[in-house]
Amino acid sequence: MIAAATSPPAAAPLVRVRGLTMARGDSVIQRDLDFDIRAGEVLAVVGPSGCGKSTLLRHLIGLQQGAQGQVLYGEHDLQHADAATARELRRAFGVMFQSGALFSSMTVGENLMLPLQMAGRDGDAEIERQARFKLALVGLDGSAARMPAELSGGMRKRAAIARALMLDPPLLYLDEPSAGLDPINIARLDDLVLKLRHYLGTTVVMITHEIDSVFAVADRVLFLDDQDKTMIGLDTPQALLDHGRAAVRRFLQRGRGE
Ligand SMILES: Nc1ncnc2c1ncn2[C@@H]1O[C@H](COP(=O)(O)OP(=O)(O)OP(=O)(O)O)[C@@H](O)[C@H]1O
Ligand SMILES: [Mg+2]
Repeated sequence: MIAAATSPPAAAPLVRVRGLTMARGDSVIQRDLDFDIRAGEVLAVVGPSGCGKSTLLRHLIGLQQGAQGQVLYGEHDLQHADAATARELRRAFGVMFQSGALFSSMTVGENLMLPLQMAGRDGDAEIERQARFKLALVGLDGSAARMPAELSGGMRKRAAIARALMLDPPLLYLDEPSAGLDPINIARLDDLVLKLRHYLGTTVVMITHEIDSVFAVADRVLFLDDQDKTMIGLDTPQALLDHGRAAVRRFLQRGRGE
């Protein structure tokens, strides 16, 4: 088991979110979001169901445009970038969506090779070698020829993370990677996140309902509130548990069974 860092590393932020307001039609989902994603950190995004976590992810990766505000990768605002710049900026991250399914008609290996093939990478042997390496990294050595239906739920989640890692992104977005898993597989996923950070230096943004995971892996927690419709907490898990707003403390305590 690799320990979570005790203090967040100091480095230039990979992403700066500034004054982001997200809405559907006239209805605001979250407003005035201001936070950084720091290089090398594990940032957990939490909050009640429906508060807008997955929506935030879609804004962070440029799939959805904010009603206001900016999502800055370096000096570039992904929200308003032209197509070529957006394509370039997207190379900075890998994504595992909440519904993060593998294609069921393709083998696990073929699923993994797809991102490299779509990026126009040459060399089947090299692409295959990469797929085998990424599978080994998530503890699925030898599973390349299997169909997704032949894997357990936890194995499928790890395969989806391996696919998100195929382009070696410095930043990985995970939406509920532990949903539907038993405690052993949740702990395995937590371990994987720490390993990625430790060995590859990957920065991880993880949306999660699992408070134990938050305390196990997160350097910082971003809390999105569904009542105030904005962020009401951004700090280390322990600091929020000790000194956070009442709604944040309740949320973290409930998850800890306290
Ligand atoms: N396709 C959609 N059409 C209309 N409203 C949507 C759509 N997707 C999300 N919403 C609304 O946006 C809000 C935020 O949804 P979102 O999926 O981001 O929440 P979440 O925090 O990820 O929830 P969960 O924890 O259940 O995954 C919700 O009120 C939801 O009803
Ligand atoms: Mg969601």
